[in-house]
Parts: sequence; C-alpha cells; structure tokens
Amino acid sequence: MGVPTLSGQAVTLLCGLLTLYVFWTITTYAKLRQFRGPLWTGISNWPHSLAMLRSNCHEWYAEVSKKHGPIARVAPRVLITSSPEVWMHVNNKPGYKRSDWYYRAVRIEYRKDNVFSQTDNAEHERRRKQMAPGYSGRENTHLEGSVDERLQDFLNLIRSKYVSSDRQVVPMDLAKKVQYFTLDVISSVGLGTAFGMLQSDQDVDNYLQSSEEGLAIGNTALAMGFTWITQAPFIGRFVAPSPKDNNGFGKMMAACFRLVDERAASSTDERSDMLASFMRHGLKGDELRTEALEQIIAGSDTTAGAIRGTLLHIMTNPRVYFKLQREVDDAVRDGRAPSTGEGLITAAQAKQLPYLQAVIREALRLWPPVANIFSRDVPAEGDTLVLDGESIFLPGGTCIGYSAYAMHRSEEIYGKDAKAFRPERWLESDPATLAVMVRTNDLIFGHGKFQCLGKAVAQIEIGKTVFELLRNFDLALISPTRPWEARNYLGLFAISNMWVQVMERTPGSP
Ligand code: HEM
Repeated sequence: MGVPTLSGQAVTLLCGLLTLYVFWTITTYAKLRQFRGPLWTGISNWPHSLAMLRSNCHEWYAEVSKKHGPIARVAPRVLITSSPEVWMHVNNKPGYKRSDWYYRAVRIEYRKDNVFSQTDNAEHERRRKQMAPGYSGRENTHLEGSVDERLQDFLNLIRSKYVSSDRQVVPMDLAKKVQYFTLDVISSVGLGTAFGMLQSDQDVDNYLQSSEEGLAIGNTALAMGFTWITQAPFIGRFVAPSPKDNNGFGKMMAACFRLVDERAASSTDERSDMLASFMRHGLKGDELRTEALEQIIAGSDTTAGAIRGTLLHIMTNPRVYFKLQREVDDAVRDGRAPSTGEGLITAAQAKQLPYLQAVIREALRLWPPVANIFSRDVPAEGDTLVLDGESIFLPGGTCIGYSAYAMHRSEEIYGKDAKAFRPERWLESDPATLAVMVRTNDLIFGHGKFQCLGKAVAQIEIGKTVFELLRNFDLALISPTRPWEARNYLGLFAISNMWVQVMERTPGSP
C-alpha cells in the first residue's frame, strides 16, 4: 500500500527537479541569447567539454570566433572574445574577477591558491605586490647571469652529445632539451638551485613527466566537471595532488618543497634571487611553498612553448632563417654581440636586433604559448561595453574569456596574410597600424593587473636562446611532415617528439 504513495512522491520530486532544470536552462539561455555560438552551446557545456577533451580547445575557440563573431558563446554562461579592445576593457575594469570554474582547476594544491589561481581581486593584489619585486631585476640581480649559466649548459650539452655530420645524423628531441633548459633556468632563478637536467641530460625527479601528467589530469577534470571534487571538504584532500604521491604534480611538489624548506631554514642566506625576495616581502610557510611551486609551472612550459614555437617557425622558413642568421653574424662581426667564445649575447644587445625581435613577436603571434580562456566573471550588475561603435550589454552571472588564436591571427589587425609567418610585418607597418599590432601582441602576456609577472624573464630567455642557437648551430627538422606532437592542457602546451639534426657551424658561413 505504501509503495504507490512513495513512488508518487518520487515522481513529484522528479517532476519538480525537471521543472527547475528546464527553468534554469531557459533563463540561462535567455541571458546570453543575443550572442551566437555553435549548436547546443546555449543549453549545454558538452561542446566546450569535448573541445577540451580533444586537447585542441584553442583551435575550437578560433573556429567559433571566426564563425560567430568577436564575442561568441561557447557554453550556456560563457562567452569568448577575439577583440583586443573588449579583452583590455575586461582586464582593466575593477568589477571583473577571475572565474572560479576555470581558476579552481589550475590550483595545484588542495584548497590553496597561488597568485595565478587567486580569484579574489583584493587577495590577488596583495599577493602580487609581495611577488612583483622578486620577478623584477631590482631584487633579483643575478637573473641574467643565471640564465647565461644555464644557456651555456644547453650549448655544451648539444656540442657534447648531439652534433650531426654529413656522415651521420644524431637525432635530438629539441622539445625535451628546451624544457630541460627552461626548468633549469626557473629552478636557478626561482629556487636558487638548478634541477640539473641539462648537465645530466635527464628528466631529474621526473618533473617533466609529472607536470605533463598533472596538466592532463587537471584538463580532464575540468572538462568532465570534476574539479570541485579535488577541492571539496574532506574528500578533496584525498583526490588533489599531494607531495606524498608517486606521480603527477604531487611528485613535483615534494621535490620543490624540499628545496624551499632548505632555503627557508638557512636564514643567514644573503642571496638576491626570487625566493629571497618573496621571503623579504613576507611570504613564508605554505604560502612560500605554493608560490615557489607555481612559478616552476608558470615559468617552464610557457617559455619552453615560446622557444620551441619560434624555432619551429624559423626552421620551416628558409628565407627568414638565412636573414636572421645574417643579422646574428653581422652583430657578432660589428661588435654588437660578444665574439664567439667570449661570452653570450646580453639581453640588452638582443633587444637591439630588429629582425630577431620581429621574428620573436611574429612566432609568439602565430603560436601563443599560453592559449587559455582566462575566464572572467562579469560584474554582478552587468556591464556595457562598446565594440565597433555598438553598445553591448554583458549580463551579471555570466563569464567572458578570450580566444588567443582568433585574436592573434586576425586579418583585420595583421592583414590578409595574417596566418603566414612574415616577421617583416613588424618592421614595415606604418606607425598607427604598428601601434595596434604591438598592443594586441602584448596581450599574449596578459593585461593590466593580471599581466604575466615573468614576462621579463621569458623575454631574456627567448632572445638569448634563439640568438645563441643560430650563432652556433644549424638546425633542421628530422620529420618535416610531423614536426612535433602538441596537446593543449588547460591552455598550456605539452609538446613532444620534436626531432632535429644539429650541425656545428662556423659563424659567418652560409
Ligand atoms: C612566453 C612565456 C610566457 C607567456 C606567454 C606567459 C603568459 C602569461 C599570461 C597570459 C598570464 C596572465 C594570466 C591571466 O590573465 O590570468 C600570465 C601570468 C603569470 N605568469 Fe606568465 N607567461 C610566460 C612566462 C612566464 C614565466 C617565465 C614566469 C615565471 C618566471 C611566469 C609567471 C607568471 C605568473 C606568476 C603569473 C600570474 C600573474 C598574476 O596573476 O598576477 N610566466 N603569464
């Protein structure tokens, strides 16, 4: 007798839930109905999730932007923009904040934020102030010297093990060696001790493997909507990465925390590196460990992606390759760079080489190494912005992020050949056009209060590395039809199998 009554209640409950769901779906759909997007994105997160799971979300965002305009819908509550004006507005206006749905997924530890994952604007500003001096040259006087030492390790490694000849090719995975270099640099400048990957020619402590696994896991969790589990009370503690793990970020954490604890314990240490600066500005204990770990992740994959992308574009464009190598040789011959064997080019000298700088800008434009959506919550009261002279209202309760690939390959900004690698565009454009191009290109490093703290470090690394590799060696792809494997995890690129042959060269030789 009781059974029909119970099932009656269950049916009522189910109907209630269904009604609520339909009501929520319709109201959410209606909020952003003026924005177009691919089929189902107005009522379902699945198209977005599937793009993440395919590890090529950046390409999907670009397709969506191309088809549906400068502000398009990618999920019921989420928009993306390819307009530099809109993106700068969103990053400048105080009411916008980083969205929890995305930035919780890039938290590394259980319920602990770092400067990159922090979604509370006031907290973020406070932490950023503590960290900015360490990232600048002011409190990190050995920065360039440390990069030079690691770059010399990189050149030595190639010279000692990977030089090919007319008689025999010695394949070298450039993707791996470049990341050894960026990990050694960031551990030197960030933790005061290089991991030693270049010297041992090994993925010491499996950092590289661990970070790739960690990013892949985080990407899948975000796509499947499981991120909350890693942060949920009680159970999250057992699911989120922990220094006790044997793989993924956990393993990386343990090694990084060990180095931080050693440094923190030696209070008489008078060094002037990032960690010392963070400590001077009040970071200690868990906060210090968290930020040190974050800087390893933020500072390695990103710059490695930039160097790999730049070298790939150079290697596949003989015209650019010859021209750049000529600029490198001329600089050495004219004394605008140290003679070969007498030191490495300085960051200031590299900045003065117009073609090198144009090549780097152009490569980062075509291959932005950080292609995240960087979602922001629209202020609760909504916001009106102007796009192409038209007022557009973004309702509160929604989010807006950016499509790096659509923005940086825009024909409107860069001309009809925007998809081609042509560094000359940075040298020949009229001042007004160039100003728009530069402003847009700078967004590759973020904007305003969220701008990359490591931009200067990255620029030093990229300029020096490209110059010195071209001065010392000739590089060629071994598999031009499949130059590398690249997977986008949470907006960062895991790149592997970039096999090259390296020939020793006499500077000045053709
Ligand atoms: C070519 C290399 C790099 C690119 C393209 C890049 C790009 C970016 C971007 C776009 C952001 C903004 C994120 C947002 O809007 O939420 C960012 C933030 C950040 N980057 Fe980089 N980055 C690079 C290299 C580095 C390096 C080498 C370091 C460390 C030495 C670093 C440390 C950081 C940190 C700490 C933040 C967080 C800043 C904040 O939230 O206030 N990055 N980066």
